[in-house]
Amino acid sequence: MAEKKFELTNLVTGKKSVAEVKSGTLGPDVLNIASLGKDHGLFTFDPGFMATAACESKITFIDGDEGVLLHRGIPIEQLAEKSNFLEVAYLLINGELPTGEQSAEFTNAIGHHTMINESLLRFFNGFQYNAHPMAMLSGVVASMSAFYHDSMDINNPRHREIFAHRIIAKIPTIAAAAYKHSLGQPFVYPRNDLDYGSNLLHMFFAVPCEPYHIDPVTAQALDLLFILHADHEQNASTSTVRLAGSTGANPYAAISAGISALWGPAHGGANEAVLAMLEQIGTVENVPKYLAKAKDKNDNFRLMGFGHRVYKNFDPRATIIRAMCHKVLAKLGKSDNPLFELALRLEEIALKDDYFVERKLYPNVDFYSGIIYSAIGIPPSMFTVMFAIARTVGWVAHWQEMISDPAMKISRPRQLYTGAGKRNYVEVGKR
Ligand code: ACO
Repeated sequence: MAEKKFELTNLVTGKKSVAEVKSGTLGPDVLNIASLGKDHGLFTFDPGFMATAACESKITFIDGDEGVLLHRGIPIEQLAEKSNFLEVAYLLINGELPTGEQSAEFTNAIGHHTMINESLLRFFNGFQYNAHPMAMLSGVVASMSAFYHDSMDINNPRHREIFAHRIIAKIPTIAAAAYKHSLGQPFVYPRNDLDYGSNLLHMFFAVPCEPYHIDPVTAQALDLLFILHADHEQNASTSTVRLAGSTGANPYAAISAGISALWGPAHGGANEAVLAMLEQIGTVENVPKYLAKAKDKNDNFRLMGFGHRVYKNFDPRATIIRAMCHKVLAKLGKSDNPLFELALRLEEIALKDDYFVERKLYPNVDFYSGIIYSAIGIPPSMFTVMFAIARTVGWVAHWQEMISDPAMKISRPRQLYTGAGKRNYVEVGKR
């Protein structure tokens, strides 16, 4: 393939330089601007990373215009139909689908680590019963760095592998402990004879005084939601994990940073915000009023669960979740769920509205996920926690990819300084 180059000219001084254009397997080429400072004394300016690739990665590919999402090259639709969450986790982290033997070994390794240290469990007593579970999750995951600091050499591949197994195994247990704490119910220990989703349902909903029946459709829905949320290339929380991890920080602390970034309503917090929004809208008659608010630049109301930085076409995950939503609600006898009916109508009306059409604003993955979570009995404050459980796999895969790259550098963006020029200190009496 011919080497691609790009000529850059300073139109004031006439100075020219040549920059390398790098091509990936799929997607647009990128301009390597590493020599821009040396050649022209310039940095690039791109707040919000609107046009900047921050790293090279082999994990996930998104074509936002076509609505394509591939994990290690495999379309999300195929994974959603044929795979399961732990197999997708293996694929994302190791690059290939596991053989039967590798799959059994991986599942066994995860099962081996599902319990959390009893001292860690006591951390929950320090939180108020009404503490937001994302705050508990982030705090408790960060504190895991204190438990495993000595046995975590980030340059040791075996240590990294054990870290991956531990965090993927323990995050549902921590999430369930946060939930039980909010209810004042006793903590329920994990059951390693259950699959990942069923074990989570057991830890969330079982109580010591009566048997708990795990509904297979609910467990299947949870597994599907976890597959759909497992990774999404360099999103805000994954980039946060990479940035924190690039300093050589303990990876549990880096994952905790990712959890905090995920919590925001512009990112993973959107699923909780969607449900609150649907409740606020209340009835189909109110939809035009709220659409007008969403379009009004003087009103900070946004249609939550709509729009995406990368997808300017349907989010393929939303299409899959929408179908699953019908199935779960039918199975649970909740097909006439008023929030679901409202969501469908809102989607229909918004998709015909010029404002949303022109800006290519489509429902994203979180438009429907909250409705499924709600139907299976998970409260809105736990929705983003569910997202964090699934996304842990993506965070681990990206952290591993970054740390094992010999060319890794600390992430250290530059800035355009617009503050005061150099000036002298003024004594307090003269200010
Ligand atoms: N409701 C109303 N208007 C919107 C919405 C929305 N949900 N999303 C974008 N717009 C408008 C913006 O006001 C802007 O209009 P303008 O060009 O007239 O100024 C235009 O569409 C472009 O929007 P930006 O905010 O510039 O797009 P950006 O890529 O920065 O933001 C984001 C993407 C944050 C997802 C945004 O669409 C949003 O806030 N959506 C609602 C929150 C949400 O659902 N987040 C979940 C994202 S998916 C995930 O993290 C799993």
